[in-house]
Amino acid sequence: MAFSFAPLLRKDVPAPSARYAGFPPYNFTGGNNDPQSTPVEGLRAAADAVLAREGRTLATYGLNSGPQGYVPLREFLVRKLKADAGIACNTDEILITSGSLQGLDLVNALLVEPGDTVLIEEDCYAGSISRLQRVGARIVGIQMDKAGLRIDALGAALDRLKREGVKPKYIYTIPTVQNPTGTVLDLARRHELLRLAAAHGCPVFEDDCYADLVFSRARPPALFALAREGGWDGVIHIGSFSKSIAPALRVGFLVANWQVISRLLALKNDAGSGALEQMVLAEFCNTHFDAHIAALSKAVGRKADVMVEALAEQFGTAAEFERPVGGIFLWLRLPESVDTSRLAVAAAAEGISLNPGAEWSVAGDRAKRWLRLCFANPSEAVIRDGVAALAAVCHKEFGVPQRISNVRQARSPE
Ligand SMILES: Cc1ncc(COP(=O)(O)O)c(C=O)c1O
Repeated sequence: MAFSFAPLLRKDVPAPSARYAGFPPYNFTGGNNDPQSTPVEGLRAAADAVLAREGRTLATYGLNSGPQGYVPLREFLVRKLKADAGIACNTDEILITSGSLQGLDLVNALLVEPGDTVLIEEDCYAGSISRLQRVGARIVGIQMDKAGLRIDALGAALDRLKREGVKPKYIYTIPTVQNPTGTVLDLARRHELLRLAAAHGCPVFEDDCYADLVFSRARPPALFALAREGGWDGVIHIGSFSKSIAPALRVGFLVANWQVISRLLALKNDAGSGALEQMVLAEFCNTHFDAHIAALSKAVGRKADVMVEALAEQFGTAAEFERPVGGIFLWLRLPESVDTSRLAVAAAAEGISLNPGAEWSVAGDRAKRWLRLCFANPSEAVIRDGVAALAAVCHKEFGVPQRISNVRQARSPE
């Protein structure tokens, strides 16, 4: 018999989701990774080895490791974070989460009440923006430039808030391959950011989601590392295996001092994150992580080059962007006449998906001309043909680029 739940729903539930309809032919959205680089054989061998050795611990919640996550995975992270990000921490200061999205939720649950102020980069990860909106935060966007967060703008915002008597709950930043802009904050700005944060008594929430995918393999130390070195404990750091190994695994991690971890543990009442994934990751990463990352960065970097070439070929000077130095996205600006939210609708009708700038920014109208394209997941042929098809749609809708390539246009699915 039909029954409607509609009258019973809580007043604050979000709008219903659309049913999943599969990926379109030219999928440039989301944080999906390069399928050819997924270390399938290595993960299979790791699963076999770890299950043969310790599989019976699956009979207990949290394995024999307690609520913070599988100890060998936390031990791997202690070594990895020291070697790659300069972070000195111990296993008690690491919490394994169900993706770093759970880390975002936990930190908001700990710190942010409706009306609280949070500072973020003006162009920012949509998942972070929507979460802050959901908890009723007052979001203050800080301007960026080609080198990332502008320290003068951050200082001015902190001073203004201080004058207003507002104490922000945290500064959220993605300093190492920012999403969506791809910028990497240099060492000098990192020190400046921390100096300002400490002076204002405002914690820093560092999201290092893409830090493993710097194509040159050289990255500045994490804010967490620099802060701790300088004797300041106001940074919470999150990271993820989504971009380094596979997003479907849903394994992320959070690093903080015990005062924070102990509070988060009280909030993370899900009886532990998926254990098999943690066991397999620890087994695989202990011996294969560095070689895998070197190969993945090379493969993804090659795709970035292909997208850069395709955009130059198809859009010419109409598309403005920086060549990515890491990550899986390209953030680009089209001429003023283009509204990328409208472009996204027209492109979807042609089997092309993209992320319009308005959803990845709190900068209002300025973001209308921007869009984000993921280059890691599509094949090189799909990147070339998809960018050509996108140029054709953009030309039809907005008259830009003024001239489109006949060669590629002929191959596009119009
Ligand atoms: C900046 C940033 N943080 C967090 C996440 C969430 O990642 P996950 O939950 O897969 O670890 C993403 C995903 O794309 C991201 O871009």
